[in-house]
Amino acid sequence: MADAISHDVLIIGSGLAGLRAAISAAAADRSLSVAVLSKVQVMRSHSVSAEGGTAAVLYEEEGDNPESHIYDTIKGSDFLGDQDVAERLVKNMPFEIYQMDHWGMPWSRRKDGRIAQRKFGGYSFPRATFAQDKVGFYLMQTLYDTCLKYDNIHFYNEWFCTSILRDSAFRGVTAIEMKTGDFTVFKAPAGIICTGGAGRIFSFSTYAFSSTPDGLDMAFRAGLALKDMEFVQFHPTGIMPSGILITEGARGEGGYLINNKGERFMSKYAPGKMELAPRDVVSRSMIKEIQEGRGFKHETGFDCMKLDLTHLGAERIKEVLAGIREIGIKFSGVDIIDEPIEVRPVCHYMMGGIHANVDGATELPGLWTAGEAACNSTHGANRLGANSTSECIVWGRITGELAAEHAVAEKTRSSSISQEQVAAEEKRIYDGIFRGAGSVNPYDVRKEMTDTMDAKAYVFRNEEGLSSALKKVRELKAQMWKHVDDKAKEYNTNFTNVMEIDSMLRTAEVVLVGALNRKESRGAHARTDYPVRDDANFLRHTLAYHTPEGPRMDWHPVVFTRYAPVERKY
Ligand code: FUM
Repeated sequence: MADAISHDVLIIGSGLAGLRAAISAAAADRSLSVAVLSKVQVMRSHSVSAEGGTAAVLYEEEGDNPESHIYDTIKGSDFLGDQDVAERLVKNMPFEIYQMDHWGMPWSRRKDGRIAQRKFGGYSFPRATFAQDKVGFYLMQTLYDTCLKYDNIHFYNEWFCTSILRDSAFRGVTAIEMKTGDFTVFKAPAGIICTGGAGRIFSFSTYAFSSTPDGLDMAFRAGLALKDMEFVQFHPTGIMPSGILITEGARGEGGYLINNKGERFMSKYAPGKMELAPRDVVSRSMIKEIQEGRGFKHETGFDCMKLDLTHLGAERIKEVLAGIREIGIKFSGVDIIDEPIEVRPVCHYMMGGIHANVDGATELPGLWTAGEAACNSTHGANRLGANSTSECIVWGRITGELAAEHAVAEKTRSSSISQEQVAAEEKRIYDGIFRGAGSVNPYDVRKEMTDTMDAKAYVFRNEEGLSSALKKVRELKAQMWKHVDDKAKEYNTNFTNVMEIDSMLRTAEVVLVGALNRKESRGAHARTDYPVRDDANFLRHTLAYHTPEGPRMDWHPVVFTRYAPVERKY
C-alpha cells in the first residue's frame, strides 16, 4: 500500500457540487489544503450533461418572488420536502446566479441585456436561468476555471474511492489510483461526498454510464442512512432508443407533447400547466396514453410519445436548443426543426441519497454531502426541473464552508486511522472482488438488474412487480459473479466496473425495499395498488441502514414551517 496522503478537506466527486464545495472551502482559508477525488476526469463528471436550467428568483420587479419558488418546490415535492431546506435553497440562489456570472458563466441574455430565464415544469414564473441548452457544461467550465485559480485545491482525477474510514468521526477514505492500481489511504478531518446519483441502476437512463452509486454505497457501508431512495424521477423526454435527455427547456420554449391521434393529451391531465406540469405528472400521463393505445410504435418494442417543436421555428431552435437538435440528428435521425421526435419517460434523477440535515451534515461528525448524492430533502417525493443544479451550487458552497470551519477547528487535534479498517477494506476488494471466483459474468448481472428495475420499478409500480424485482436482485446478488478477468494492475476498468456493480446491487435493493414499504402514491412513487397519497401513515421520510442481511428500514420526520399539505392539482 502506498503512503497515506493527508489533506484538510477531502471532496469526493468533481461535479457541480464538488467543484463549488472546493472553491468555498479553499476560499474560506487559503492555508487549508483541499483535495477533490474523482473517478473520472473533471470535465467528464455527469454534471456536464445538465441541459435546461438553474432555478432562481431574479426578477421580483417583474412579478416573481421567493415565496412562490419556495411553495412551487414544496408542492412539487408532494409535501415530502423539508420546508426549511426549500427556503434555504430559494434564498441563496440569486446570489449564486450572480456569483457564477462574475466568474464568467455565459448565461443566455434577454434583448435588454439582462440574464434570461425560461419556463420549466411546475413553476409559477419563468425562473430557469439558462445558457442555451448546455447549462451543465458551462457551469462546470466556469467552476473548474475558478478552481484552477486556487493553489490550495488539489485534483486527484481517476481515483476510485472505495470506503470511508471512521471512528466516532470522519477520518478519511481509501482509494485506488486507476493509473497505477495503487491502493491508498487519504486522511482528513473533514469530508464532503458529492458523487452524484445512482440512475444507472436502470437501463433506460439519461445518466452517464459511470453514474453508479459508489459514493452512496460507501456511506451506506459506513453505517450512514440512505434516505427516500424509493423516489426515482422519470423525466418525460428521453430520446428513443438511447434515453439521452431532451431538455424540459424544449417544452419551456413552447414544445408540445402529442399522442398518435395528434392530440396535446396533457390537456386531460393538467389543463392548467399542460406540458409544463411537474415531471411525475407528465410521465404518468404519457404512460397512461401508451397503456390506452395512443402511443407511437417503436422498433425497440417500447411505445412512445412525440415531442413537437417544429412550430418554434429554425431560428429559435438554433439559438437556444442547438444541443438537443444535434442530439436528435445524431442519435435519433430526426431534425427537430422539421419533424416531431420520439420520446418516453426515462430515469433521470434520484430524490433520495445520503441522509443529511439542512446544512448538508451527515450523521457522521466531520462528513457532509451535497448535490444529488445527498438527501437533505430539498425535493421530497418529486424534484422540479432546474432545482438540481441550484441545489448543487447552494449546498456545494454551504458544505465547503462548514467543512473548512471544521478542518480549522480540528487542525491541532491529532487523530489516527484504524489499520483494521484499512486491512478489512483491502480484503473486501482484493480477496472478495479482484481475486474472487465464479463463472457468472458480472456484466450480465448488471444488465439483468437494470432491465429488472426498468420493468418493475418504473413510472407505475405494484406489490407483485416490486416483490419479484427484489427477489431477482437478491438472487443476482447471491450468484458467483464477483470476479475480475483482467488481472492488470494499471487502468483496470474491469475491476472498477465490478466494484460498481457491487454498489449498484445493494442500492437497487434499498430502492425496492423502500418502494415496497411505502404503500401509498406520492410524487414520483406511483403504486397502482395504493393509488392515493396517505398522509396519515406516510408523510415521513424513509431511512435505510446497511446490515449484511439487507437494509434495515426506519422513518424520519418531515420538517414543516408554514405550508400544510393539500392535494396537488395543476
Ligand atoms: O430537462 C432538463 O433540462 C433537466 C433539468 C433538470 O433535471 O433539472
